[in-house]
Amino acid sequence: MATTQRPPTNGTLPGRVPRSGPTSRPTSRVVFACSECGADHVKWAGRCSSCGDWNTLVEELHDPGAAPAPSTNRAGPTLIGAVGADAGDPISTSLPELDRVLGGGIVPGAVTLLGGEPGIGKSTLLLQLLAAWDGPTLYVSAEESAQQVRLRAERLGAVGERLWLHAETSLPHIVDAISTTSPELVVIDSIQTVSDPALGSLPGSVAQVRGCANRLVNIAKERGISVVLVGHVTKDGGLAGPRVLEHVVDTVLQFEGDKHHALRLLRAAKHRFGPTNELGLFEMAGAGLIGVPDPSTLFLADRRTGVPGSAVVPTMEGQRPIVVEVQALTTSGVPGVPSRRSALGLDGARLSMLMAVLARRVGLPMGDQDVYASTAGGVKLVEPGLDLGVCLAVVSALRNQPLPADLAVFGEVGLGGELRQVGHAARRLTEAARLGFKRVVVPANSPAVESGIRVLRASTLDEAVASVGLRTGGAGPPSSKIS
Ligand code: TYD
Ligand code: MG
Repeated sequence: MATTQRPPTNGTLPGRVPRSGPTSRPTSRVVFACSECGADHVKWAGRCSSCGDWNTLVEELHDPGAAPAPSTNRAGPTLIGAVGADAGDPISTSLPELDRVLGGGIVPGAVTLLGGEPGIGKSTLLLQLLAAWDGPTLYVSAEESAQQVRLRAERLGAVGERLWLHAETSLPHIVDAISTTSPELVVIDSIQTVSDPALGSLPGSVAQVRGCANRLVNIAKERGISVVLVGHVTKDGGLAGPRVLEHVVDTVLQFEGDKHHALRLLRAAKHRFGPTNELGLFEMAGAGLIGVPDPSTLFLADRRTGVPGSAVVPTMEGQRPIVVEVQALTTSGVPGVPSRRSALGLDGARLSMLMAVLARRVGLPMGDQDVYASTAGGVKLVEPGLDLGVCLAVVSALRNQPLPADLAVFGEVGLGGELRQVGHAARRLTEAARLGFKRVVVPANSPAVESGIRVLRASTLDEAVASVGLRTGGAGPPSSKIS
């Protein structure tokens, strides 16, 4: 049987999409993007199906007809041996503490994300960096007016001759400003307040932050301009906005510190051009941030000797030895209420574990004691070398016996009550000797090092407690100070 084909009613061949008209381009649709991992979802859900985080899906406009991103590499693939290796030499900044964290300085074309709580000093640090830079630089202020930035720069003595200032939130204008001023280094303060009208969604949304950051990364790579993006942080200290932001940048720096103390710590959470374990230390003063080249002296400045519950530990932050005071206080707990373990600047779970080791392996009555332990100076430290210091400070507080004033200790404590060696013994001993300490208790297996300081070796926590003259076993009345 013959079939008849009906002619198309709109004058086009069947299956052909008209070349123009309203259906020629898919229209924008609403999607839900995860603010943590950036994954798209067609409908809202309480939990992201990609990363599993709760309450992270936010509504966004998605334009499926948008042109694909242009190529960022017109030359195509290159053999690895033919790639020049000298392009990535870091350029030293005027801030030695920043250089230390970045492994020498800022690499041309590198994109850095600087995160930190409001008021911690991000804008101050970056203004100081730009003003002292040798070549032309551009500070894009998307949060403060040009006048506010100028006033701050005057206070800081940072009115650099080649520092361009642009108070702007719109990305196309920022890109224009980069073209007209040809800077070597650009700061965007902050990426969350910059938006591109072409992206459609609201400023600060995941799509905006991601889109603007991608555009700036492309510009940095194409033109060899170093870019620093300032990022907001959430209440629990993580960088706000999509995680993808951390993936597209080369370096993620975190600026931390207690706002009530002058000390500020700069750490690299990610660094494509060097190690991430270095620590930079600054002090917030009247005229901006000042590097702290000798933190040990600063941390020990207010130390009172002859007080029970205090131990001095040469600890390591990256390649840097820092001598800190660990303090502890014990009080009798309330009967029937679980005893408290409170850690400030130390890891709380580790403190609980050490108290259990003291109870079981040294036989101290920790069960009915509330224990408070902290590092002096508001510095946050998580390093196993602190374990022995925490334990001896607690025993000293419990026994009301001070440790000798010229004694320092370091070592990791295992669950069996054994002392384990920790890295960089030589640097720790040398730093303790430099600060005038005469004796150091170390784990028995620590390598022998010539440092001019008397080394007392202990293989267990019990031995360490005895070697410094503290009494172990059952409770008793406080005894007199040891020499
Ligand atoms: P700021 O750089 O604005 O912080 P952020 O950009 O991270 O929000 O720092 C603001 C704080 O620093 C403010 O509380 C005042 C203090 N500050 C000083 O103590 N000394 C100074 O010279 C400057 C400029 C700021
Ligand atoms: Mg700021």
